Amino acid sequence: MILVTGGAGFIGANFILDWLAGEDSNDGEAILNLDLLTYAGNLETLASLRNDPRHVFVQGDICDRALVDRLLASYRPRAIVHFAAESHVDRSIHGPGDFVRTNVEGTFTLLEAARAHHASLDAAEQAAFRFLHISTDEVYGSLGADDPAFAETKAYEPNSPYSASKAASDHLVRAWHHTYGLPVLTTNCSNNYGPRQFPEKLIPLMIVNALAGKPLPVYGDGLNVRDWLYVTDHCAAIREVLARGTPSENYNIGGWNEKTNIDIVRSVCALLDELRPSADGSHARLITHVSDRPGHDRRYAIDARKIERELGWRPAETFDSGIRKTVQWYLDNPQWVTDVQSGAYRDWVAANYGTRRQAA
Ligand code: NAD
Ligand code: DAU
Repeated sequence: MILVTGGAGFIGANFILDWLAGEDSNDGEAILNLDLLTYAGNLETLASLRNDPRHVFVQGDICDRALVDRLLASYRPRAIVHFAAESHVDRSIHGPGDFVRTNVEGTFTLLEAARAHHASLDAAEQAAFRFLHISTDEVYGSLGADDPAFAETKAYEPNSPYSASKAASDHLVRAWHHTYGLPVLTTNCSNNYGPRQFPEKLIPLMIVNALAGKPLPVYGDGLNVRDWLYVTDHCAAIREVLARGTPSENYNIGGWNEKTNIDIVRSVCALLDELRPSADGSHARLITHVSDRPGHDRRYAIDARKIERELGWRPAETFDSGIRKTVQWYLDNPQWVTDVQSGAYRDWVAANYGTRRQAA
């Protein structure tokens, strides 16, 4: 069995679904899923596993040491794959406290519990045990237009409360290996997109707003660049790192797919024009430039050559194939979208967009 934290969120849930579907001839080993079910956690995403004994769900907080100790002692997982985090940059600007608590204290708590668990294992189990920490390219800071893509050797220069909290957690993970010998692995991935992403992030927000005929809020000039990766490619990379990565190493994961935000929004509009045309004309008419995100990083790009070279991983999806599947998934799953747009979601939209002025 493996312990997955944050398995009711976007990437964690996709990881669990792929894992239990036996991707890569994985034998469908059971998963213990520890998730607090914050606004971002959604068990409906895992509804297909409701009667599957290989998925054990526990609602709980990674900051709760007693709970984590109990789970490790009862289930004795051979690995921990740690996704649980506060993950949205804009929310970290509005309220950084939750980010420090979950991302820093939560990772610290898990590391301490994992260290005690590791010490209780026999020598063969200790050698096989892994703590895989899922991190982000945002820890590396912002690139200029001509800078080389982020390699694993790039110095950390986090700029937002979110990325600073993730950088802090990465440093703790590194130290728990260096000092205590815990067999850790860290992955730093670029922007994910795909089915089941909460519609606060750029791509699902644009899809759901366009379908509702609402403005498509593009921050600043829309020329910030992100390196987009389809979520199942990220999940495949994580499986490779877990199976064959070298403990203590970091692996950068990216799609070789840099795009400006405005290009992303235009691609979504063009697909919706094809798949769900609007009587009012192209969805692109809804694009609205609004005031920028404070401290907005200009460009991220991942140099993914290390994971390709050492583990043979490459993304399977192109951006064209991935974005088509994504838009189609949101068209096919309107109930999922309605369910996540609860009162709390409406409060967030009012807090983040209510005060942004429309740019000229
Ligand atoms: P998400 O916000 O969709 O999901 C986070 C999950 O963690 C939710 O299910 C939530 O309920 C759970 N959670 C939050 N606080 C918790 C706590 N204290 N205890 C237990 N569970 C808690 O996030 P995501 O987009 O799926 O990201 C998953 C991980 O991948 C994060 O660590 C994030 O930093 C990293 N990452 C994300 C991206 C991306 O583009 N989304 C890219 C690179 C790395
Ligand atoms: O790079 C990896 C990171 O990607 C992950 O670590 C984070 O968890 C994930 O949220 C994501 O961070 P970003 O800030 O890049 O993602 P987001 O979808 O919030 O924004 C993508 C870009 O789109 C960014 O430049 C801001 C812009 N944007 C976003 C929103 C929500 C807009 O222009 N308008 C919007 O309404």
